Amino acid sequence: MCKQIMCGIAGYVGPRKAVDVVFDQLKRLEYRGYDSAGVAYLENGDINVLKRAGKLNELTGLMADGTPNVHLAIAHSRWATHGAPTDENAHPHFDQFEQISIIHNGIIENYLDLKAELAQQGSEFRSDTDTEVAAHVIGCEYTEGVALEEAVRRAVKRLRGAYALVVVSKREPEKIVCARNASPLVIGLGEGETMLASDIPALLPYTRSVIILEDDRIAVLLPEGVRVTNLDGQELPVTPLHIDWDVSAAEKGGYEHFMLKEIHEQPEVVRQCLAGRVDDKGRARLDNVFGQSVWNNTDRIVIVACGTSYHAGLMGKYLFEKLLRLPTDVFHASEFRYGDPVLSPNSLALFISQSGETADTLAALKLCQARRIRTLGIVNVIGSSIARECDRTIITQAGPEISVASTKAFTAQVIALVLLMLHVAQEKEMPGVRVEEITRDLLELPELAQRAMLAEGEIIRAAEKMRDAKLVFFLGRGADALVALEGALKLKEIAYVATQESPAGEMKHGPLALVEKGVFAVMGATESEMREKLASNIKEMQARGGQVLAITTEGDDLIPKIAEFVVRLPKSGSEFLNALLSIIPMQLLAYHLARLNGCEIDQPRNLAKSVTVE
Ligand code: G6P
Repeated sequence: MCKQIMCGIAGYVGPRKAVDVVFDQLKRLEYRGYDSAGVAYLENGDINVLKRAGKLNELTGLMADGTPNVHLAIAHSRWATHGAPTDENAHPHFDQFEQISIIHNGIIENYLDLKAELAQQGSEFRSDTDTEVAAHVIGCEYTEGVALEEAVRRAVKRLRGAYALVVVSKREPEKIVCARNASPLVIGLGEGETMLASDIPALLPYTRSVIILEDDRIAVLLPEGVRVTNLDGQELPVTPLHIDWDVSAAEKGGYEHFMLKEIHEQPEVVRQCLAGRVDDKGRARLDNVFGQSVWNNTDRIVIVACGTSYHAGLMGKYLFEKLLRLPTDVFHASEFRYGDPVLSPNSLALFISQSGETADTLAALKLCQARRIRTLGIVNVIGSSIARECDRTIITQAGPEISVASTKAFTAQVIALVLLMLHVAQEKEMPGVRVEEITRDLLELPELAQRAMLAEGEIIRAAEKMRDAKLVFFLGRGADALVALEGALKLKEIAYVATQESPAGEMKHGPLALVEKGVFAVMGATESEMREKLASNIKEMQARGGQVLAITTEGDDLIPKIAEFVVRLPKSGSEFLNALLSIIPMQLLAYHLARLNGCEIDQPRNLAKSVTVE
C-alpha cells in the first residue's frame, strides 16, 4: 500500500464563469498540499483540459489572457501517489474515447488488475495513474443509450478502494456526476448554481447550504440542484446542512499565516469548545456521551489517533488515570490496526481526529466496530467519516483548521478530554474529583490563554538565538513531558529542526550524550513539585554547553534564575491546564523559528493536512 495525502477537488455548474470559480475553490484548498493541478471545462460541446505539474499559478498562468466564458468546470490539485508529479499524471484524465473527463481523490486498489483487463480490450494509457484507469472503466460502461450517471454507477461497482470521483461528459455537457466511497466530497447548493468540493471552506464564499455526500452515493449536479441516488439507482432524500462558519474564519484574517492566526484563536477556541458544556452549577454537560451504566461497566479506555491528536490522547490517558483511576492506553492508529489489540467487551475505544478522515484512525475504528467495542469520537469536522461512524461523538467546535500543522485543534481536543473526564466522574459519582473547581478553572482558561500570548516577545528573542540550533530537546515531567512531545512535533513539522523529546528524568540514560554547544532545550516546568528536579536537568544541559528556554508559571522563583530564556505563564488552579497552556509558547516558537528561516509555514514540505488513505 502506498501513502496518499488528500487531493483538492472543485466543481461548478451555473451562471458564473465556471473556471474562475473552480480556481478560487482550489485556492481555498491549497492548504492540503499538492504538486500539480488541472481543470476541465465544457465549451461548445467539447471538453477542454489544461493541467500542469507545480503550484496552481502554473495552471492559471496558462490562461493569462483571461478565462473562458463557460458555465461548467471541474478542477483538481493532486498529491502524487501513482506516478510522479508530471503534467501527464495530473488530473483530469480522459477515458479511452475522450467522451468523459474525471478527477479523483483516493486510491483505486484494484487498478492494476483493471488496467490489464482494459489493455487487453485495447485501452492505451497516457499516465501512470489509477485515476486514468477509473476513467477508462467509466468509458467502457458509457455505451450508446446509457446515461453518464448509470455508467458511473456501473463503474464504481468494479472499483475497489477509496474514491471521490467527479465526471463530466461531452454527451451530457450540462451536468457533473460524482460518486463517493471513503474520500470526502461535499456539494454546495446555491441560487441557480450547484458546486462541489473536497472540503467545506472551498464552498463558503458561494453558499452556506451544504450536503455531505455519503459513501456509495452517486450525485448529479445541475444548475437547478442535485439528485442523489444509491448504487441501486434509488433516489434518496437529501437534507442540506447550514454551515454558519464565518468566511473569514476560513481565511487568514489579517495574520501573515493561517498557523499564526490559529495559534492566536486559541482563547476563543477554548471558549467555543466549552460553550454550553458547563452548567450553572459548575458541572460538565456533555449530551449524548453514554450514561452511568456504560461508564460503570467500562474497565479500560483505548485511545487511538495519529500525530497531534495522538498527543492529545496522551493527555487523555494522564487525566483518566490520574483523576478517574481508569486504566487507559494510547495507540498510534497505524500500529493499532495491525497490532491485533487485546480488547475486552468492557473496553471503550476513543478516537481523536481533527479532520475525522484520517485513514488509519478510521480503519482502527472499523476494527473496533467489528469487535463490537463501544466507540466514542472526539472530532473537529462535523459530518466527517469518524464523526458519523462512532457510536457517540464529541465535536471539538474549534472551527476550520487550515494550517497543516495542527494548533488550535490540539487545545480543543484536550479541553474535550477534560470535559469527558468530568462527565465520567459525574456519572460514576466520584466525589474525589473536584468537578466544580475544575470547571471553574476551565472557564478561566480563555483569559489565561490570552495572557499566555504575551510570551511572544520572549519567544521571538529565543527563536533568534536558536536559528542555527543543531538540535532542540523538548523536556518535562508528568503532563509537561506529554505536551513537550507536541511542541517538538511542531518544530519538526514547520521549521525542519531536528528534535529529541524525552521525559527530563531520562536524559541521563542516553540522550544527554547529544548535548554540546549549539544544542538547546525547551523545558516545560509548569508543575511546581517537579521544579527542583527540573532545575538539575537544566544544569546538566548547561554544563555541556546547552542553553534552555524554560516555560514556567508566575510565582516560580527558581527556574527563572537559571534558564537563559524564560516564559512565565499565568497560573491555573488545575496544574494540567498549566501544562496545556505551555503548548502556546511552543507553537509560537515553531512558528517564529520557521518564519526567521524562511520556511513555507502553512504548507510544510512533505506534509499535508489530512492523510485519508493509508
Ligand atoms: C496529519 C496532519 C497532522 C495531524 C494528523 C492526524 O499528519 O499533518 O497535523 O495531527 O494528520 O490528523 P487528524 O485529522 O486525524 O487529527
